[in-house]
This record gives sequence, C-alpha cells and structure tokens, in this order.
Amino acid sequence: MLFSNPLLACAFLTICSASPTAPSQIQLPKPVGKYEVGLSITELIDHNRTQPFAPNGTLVKLMISVFYPVTHKHHSISGAYMTTETALIEDNTLSSQGLAAPNGTFGKLTLQLASDQSIQSRKDKSTCENPVEYPLVLFMPGEGTTRLFYNQIASTVASRGYIVVTIDAPYDVDVVQYTDGSFAYINQTLWANDNPELANVALVAIQTRMDDVSFVLDSLSNTTLAQSLIPNLPASGLNTTHTAMFGHSLGGATAYSILDAEDRILGGLTMDGDLNGPPLLNGSSKPFMFIGSTNHTRENADDDPGSTWLSGWPKLLGWKKYVMVANTMHYDFSDYPIVFETLGITPTNGTNFLLGDLKGKRALEIVTSYVGVFLDFVLLGKESRLLDGPVKQFPEVTFEN
Ligand SMILES: *[C@@H]1O[C@H](CO)[C@@H](O)[C@H](O)[C@H]1NC(C)=O
Ligand SMILES: *[C@@H]1O[C@H](CO)[C@@H](O)[C@H](O)[C@H]1NC(C)=O
Ligand SMILES: *[C@@H]1O[C@H](CO)[C@@H](O)[C@H](O)[C@H]1NC(C)=O
Ligand SMILES: *[C@@H]1O[C@H](CO)[C@@H](O)[C@H](O)[C@H]1NC(C)=O
Ligand SMILES: *[C@@H]1O[C@H](CO)[C@@H](O)[C@H](O)[C@H]1NC(C)=O
Ligand SMILES: *[C@@H]1O[C@H](CO)[C@@H](O)[C@H](O)[C@H]1NC(C)=O
Ligand SMILES: *[C@@H]1O[C@H](CO)[C@@H](O)[C@H](O)[C@H]1NC(C)=O
Ligand SMILES: *[C@@H]1O[C@H](CO)[C@@H](O)[C@H](O)[C@H]1NC(C)=O
Ligand SMILES: *[C@@H]1O[C@H](CO)[C@@H](O)[C@H](O)[C@H]1NC(C)=O
Repeated sequence: MLFSNPLLACAFLTICSASPTAPSQIQLPKPVGKYEVGLSITELIDHNRTQPFAPNGTLVKLMISVFYPVTHKHHSISGAYMTTETALIEDNTLSSQGLAAPNGTFGKLTLQLASDQSIQSRKDKSTCENPVEYPLVLFMPGEGTTRLFYNQIASTVASRGYIVVTIDAPYDVDVVQYTDGSFAYINQTLWANDNPELANVALVAIQTRMDDVSFVLDSLSNTTLAQSLIPNLPASGLNTTHTAMFGHSLGGATAYSILDAEDRILGGLTMDGDLNGPPLLNGSSKPFMFIGSTNHTRENADDDPGSTWLSGWPKLLGWKKYVMVANTMHYDFSDYPIVFETLGITPTNGTNFLLGDLKGKRALEIVTSYVGVFLDFVLLGKESRLLDGPVKQFPEVTFEN
C-alpha cells in the first residue's frame, strides 16, 4: 500500500546538510505564518482502483506532499522545490511556452523549511488553553500543472497552523515523479484542446480525483503511516474525520463536487475553478467559497463557458462567499507569480501563462490570507473581517452577493 520515500528523502537530506544555502540555490520567501514548516513526501498505491487515463490495468498510484507546522525556532534550511529531473522537465515545458527558463532554472529553487522538523506538542504554551490540534486540509492542483507548483502556497497555509496535504493527479497533471524515479505524464490525446470529448474527460478526472481524496484520507487515518510522515505526531494521529479541501481550477471543481460525496470534508474552496464535476444534486449545506480572477463573475461565460458557477451557486445552501481579485488571471492562484519573481524571470508573453499584474508576494499574500481565514472559519469556528466584506488591507478583493 505504501512505500516510504528513500529516493526523495535522501535527496532531501543531502540538501538539508548543505544548509544554510549553497551558492547556486535560490530561496523562496520564508512562510509568513506563526509556525515554521516541515515537509514529507510519499507515494500511496490504491490496489483497489485503476487509472482511467493510463493503459489498462494501471493501478492508482499517487504522490502526496505533507506540509506541517513546527514551532521550534531554529534556523531555516533549504528543501528542494522539485526533484532535479522534474525541474528539468518544467524548465523545458515552460521555456516552450515563452519563459526564459534554461535547463537548471527550477532545479535551483528551494523552500525554506524548519531545521528541526518535529511537530509541536499539542499543548499550545502561548495560550495555556486546551491542547491544540492542527487540522488536516487537502489540496489539489489544476489540470496540467504538477502539485509542486503550489508548494509555496501550501507551505504558507501550513505556517498558519494547518497540516496541508497536496495530492497530485497522475495522467491529468503534466508530470508526476514517483519514488523509484519513474514518471506519469499527462495523457495528451485525451486532454487535447480539440478533443470533442473534453468535457467528459474533465468529468472523469474529477470523479477520479474525488476517489483519490477519499483514498488519501483512508490512508492517513493509519496512525503508523501518519507518524512516519510527521515526526512526534501525537499517538492519536491526524484528524481525518474533520477536514476541508481547497484546490485550483480542476482541483477547485473537485473541492466542490466532493462536498456531497465525502462526509469527512466539512467545507471547500475553489481558486478560480469552474464547477464541471458531478453536480450537488440535492444541494449541500456545507460552507463553500469561490475566489475568482478579475472579471470572473458568476455570469461571465467567457471564463466559464458552461456557466457552471451560475448553476453551481444555488446548490450551495449554507454559508457561501464569492470574491474576485483585481489584476489577476487564472495562474495567479498558483506559485507561478512568486516563483517567477523569486527567480527574476518574466514570461515574454504573460498571456500564455495567464498571469495578471500583481506582484508575486502580493498574489501569495492575498491567496493564502483568504484561504487561511476560510479554513479558520470552517475548521476552528473563527470569524474574520476578511470574510465579511471588503477591507482596506486588501483593496484588490471585491465581493459578489
Ligand atoms: C479493496 O477491495 C477488496 C476486495 O474487493 C475489499 O475487500 C477491500 O475492502 C477494499 N478496500 C478498500 C479500502 O476499499
Ligand atoms: C490515454 O488514455 C487512454 C484511455 O484510457 C488509454 O487507453 C491510453 O493508454 C492512455 N495513453 C497514455 C499515453 O497513457
Ligand atoms: C481496455 O479495457 C477496455 C474495457 O475493459 C477494453 O474495451 C479495451 O479493449 C482495453 N484496451 C486494451 C488496449 O486492452
Ligand atoms: C535541456 O534539457 C533537455 C531535456 O533534458 C535536453 O534535451 C536539452 O538538450 C538540454 N538543453 C541544453 C541547452 O542543455
Ligand atoms: C499502516 O501503515 C503502516 C506503515 O506504513 C503499514 O505497515 C501498515 O500495514 C498499515 N496498516 C494498515 C491497516 O493498512
Ligand atoms: C476531530 O475533530 C473534531 C472536531 O474538532 C473532534 O470532535 C474529534 O474528536 C476529532 N477527532 C480526533 C480523532 O481527534
Ligand atoms: C437526492 O434526493 C433524492 C430524493 O430525495 C434521493 O433519492 C437521492 O439519493 C439524493 N441524492 C443524493 C446525492 O443525496
Ligand atoms: C475586466 O473587464 C473590464 C470591463 O469589461 C475590462 O475593461 C478589463 O480589461 C477586464 N480586465 C481583465 C483583466 O480582463
Ligand atoms: C501572446 O500569446 C497570446 C496567446 O497565445 C497571443 O494571442 C498573443 O498574440 C501573444 N502576444 C504577443 C505579444 O506575442
């Protein structure tokens, strides 16, 4: 069912011991939340299901990254943003789309992680209140884009006190690298823009992703596994019965459709994702939030040809919010802005990368602040002014009723 990850763990440890920063490395900003962040990566195999977009009989085999809060205040160390091989693939892919990313570009990029990766004991000394439990949240990427291009977003949300698990979608994201070094590439025939069956492919992809999420929750409910991923995790393990999900694009569509299917997910958030998965037939009273790019109103048929935001909205019967972020396009809800800014590279044609004019740090701040207060609301019952309406601090964010 599970293999630990010697390959990545070794690569990771090698980089760790080279701390603080080798000259060739370029560090992403330190996550701004209260906690430092630890990271574990592993592979999970579901022997009960096969991949719909792979040759017959290919078992579902997922890669997940687990970002978790750490309180010890030691120095930061660098952790690879991607494996060397995946980074080279992304160098070539993004170069072909008009980014000046010669071989070696993404391989230089590192995350700032806690040097001592033990999780804090659940007693929060700062409040002397009841033992603190860090809630578990799940994230899925957009179609065509590796989960790794959301590492900084996930890490920043984790620094606010969440255990954030990013789950890749093999054969629907561009590339997934497994622990033995092998790859699963996107099924380009099925995902071709001119495939007349594309809508159905997307539907099958979302159904597959929903099952993937349930499988990850099943897997993480195994305390032995959870403790192997998160050092010093308390004996009770992860709370897999009270979680929330957020996602970008197709990942956001998954966070919507799964409300009906998965009792363990209490609320969802989509970052600019159309709702092209299974509809919420009888509606859902769970909380749900939309964060849209500029002009991505519910009525905007250009951004959402099937008007899925319009039809999906009335099916949400409980707490719901709809905000839009000025000067953004679809990929401002990924790490692209902060990653390109950190590397000092600008796409020659921004349109190809679906990026607006926001600075990378600002895009990251807006996205993670709103995701953060939403999770605080769903999982901790905390209110925030940010969810009530426009605030001076974030003039870019407007509300639709
Ligand atoms: C997997 O399939 C086997 C055999 O059909 C079944 O006994 C088992 O409960 C399934 N496991 C899960 C986790 O669904
Ligand atoms: C693409 O998906 C089809 C349909 O499931 C499958 O038959 C084919 O082998 C896949 N192609 C690749 C390259 O994985
Ligand atoms: C894959 O399985 C499907 C359904 O069982 C079958 O129709 C198809 O012929 C198989 N394809 C190959 C290449 O084996
Ligand atoms: C960059 O990497 C690709 C893929 O590994 C390789 O085909 C190409 O030759 C490399 N280009 C240069 C300039 O090294
Ligand atoms: C739980 O995880 C451990 C460690 O990965 C594994 O050895 C064990 O078989 C798992 N238990 C179950 C019930 O799957
Ligand atoms: C999970 O969280 C809920 C809500 O806080 C709580 O009622 C439940 O006991 C927790 N479960 C575990 C196993 O910690
Ligand atoms: C929706 O409601 C109908 C009629 O009450 C019921 O048969 C069906 O199972 C429900 N579907 C879901 C997904 O809850
Ligand atoms: C948003 O819509 C307005 C009015 O139609 C238009 O002027 C503006 O260019 C649009 N902005 C973007 C980023 O598409
Ligand atoms: C940028 O790319 C878009 C979409 O591929 C294209 O329509 C546009 O003409 C390009 N602009 C420039 C300046 O190359």
